[in-house]
Amino acid sequence: MLAMSQLCTLLYVSKSLITQPESINELLTVSRDINIQKEITGVLVLNSGRFLQVLEGHPDNVQLIYSRIVKDPRHEEVRLLLNSPISGRRFGRWSMAFLNPEEVPPILGATSFDELRLKADKTAGELLSLIQSMVTSDAASG
Ligand SMILES: Cc1cc2nc3c(=O)[nH]c(=O)nc-3n(C[C@H](O)[C@H](O)[C@H](O)COP(=O)(O)O)c2cc1C
Repeated sequence: MLAMSQLCTLLYVSKSLITQPESINELLTVSRDINIQKEITGVLVLNSGRFLQVLEGHPDNVQLIYSRIVKDPRHEEVRLLLNSPISGRRFGRWSMAFLNPEEVPPILGATSFDELRLKADKTAGELLSLIQSMVTSDAASG
């Protein structure tokens, strides 16, 4: 039997404790380096002081990175929304795209990640599609 390459996606939200914009740049630089090494792709969104991150990759690598992220003192209230196998990457071009939108397009009536936290369990798929469209329409995301 042909071995299928294993892939999973993980989605969480958290509350940012970062106050300096330079600290975000540092986080992105370090994280992107590691993600490239570990063949992790995804996106980090910052809205209303909340992070929302999507990670994609081999389940072992995704778990390893997520276990570090959970312990990171630069945010709190980390809440896992989705961790499931996927057949292909949505964010294959980005080691870690970054979006800092003023407003999140409403999804099921929620306009901030704070609100989405309460609703995303049912709508993780919709949320992923929304973020994917935001990333692909934002040429500046790295
Ligand atoms: C919101 C947030 C997102 C992060 N995303 C990633 C990531 O995608 N990849 C990564 O390697 N580290 C990420 N980190 C950083 C890790 O928590 C950790 O600092 C980094 O992997 C280096 O780990 P080490 O200090 O154990 O070497 C993130 C941290 C925060 C606060």
